Amino acid sequence: MKKDFISLLDFTPDELQFIIDQAAQLKNAPRNACDLLKGKSFALIFQKPSNRTRVSFETGIFQMGGNPIYLAPEDINLGKREPTADIARTLSRFVDGIVARVFSHDDLLALSKFATIPVINALSDLSHPCQILADMLTVQEEFGRFKGLRLAYIGDGNNICNSLLIACSRLGVDIAVATPAGYEPSPAYVAAARAAARESGAQVFLTTSAQEAASGAHVLYTDTWVSMGQEEETARRLKDFDGFQIDERLAAKADAKHIFLHCLPAHRGQEVAAAVIDGLHSKIFDEAENRLHAQKAVLKFLYS
Ligand code: CP
Ligand code: NVA
Repeated sequence: MKKDFISLLDFTPDELQFIIDQAAQLKNAPRNACDLLKGKSFALIFQKPSNRTRVSFETGIFQMGGNPIYLAPEDINLGKREPTADIARTLSRFVDGIVARVFSHDDLLALSKFATIPVINALSDLSHPCQILADMLTVQEEFGRFKGLRLAYIGDGNNICNSLLIACSRLGVDIAVATPAGYEPSPAYVAAARAAARESGAQVFLTTSAQEAASGAHVLYTDTWVSMGQEEETARRLKDFDGFQIDERLAAKADAKHIFLHCLPAHRGQEVAAAVIDGLHSKIFDEAENRLHAQKAVLKFLYS
């Protein structure tokens, strides 16, 4: 049966750890996977803009011997030009995998249902699993472990937050999420994280106090307050997130050896102060680089 990479919920803690360890190995020895995708082509469907995800997938597939085919929003016109089911069935006759960045997570599920080839989530409204694997690789590189760490996510309870909840709870990292009231993460993801935490021994904690979440954290994490597709809500969101910026005062509440992560693109002066994102604790470009290694590990996992 074909394997997809659509949600971290579909992977056990051992599988997640295995993919992260593979990513670390591929980072050290990139040539170890250079023929793995030889002769294979991949359709990269993007309904939204991208720098990191597009370039790291195209580069990673190329480095593994495969052929990435970038399809811009107007090329495929998912769900508008023809039914998603027909797109999935057609692409399955041409290529060996679909990497898709979509507005609605349901479109990924529809692609998966009708495709006979693996479907990889390159970001949906609900989750961003590739990003979070790269984040956890960065955490492992910095601290050498997951258990006993505390990650504070401060800001919007969005796709990044949902996937962080699953990765942290499965891998044994305590996670504290601070959002304004009304911007909490998906209840289904919170429930799944709480269930996983009971197994791993991690703690899952939701609050509306950024200070409470940041206190003693080893990892401070934030993301944009206005995700792609929410541009019309910008004015309201900037008002509602007032007080949730990670600035130097908030960062001072974290552990002295904490790191700062952000999936990027970032907005200095909104969700994060320039002094923090450009400061000594920031690991954002190691994190961005790790997208490449983590995704190559996912491809190796799916195609070995
Ligand atoms: N973090 C991330 O997914 O970046 P892009 O939107 O540039 O791909
Ligand atoms: N939450 C952001 C993540 C971008 C990588 C968005 O969906 O736009």
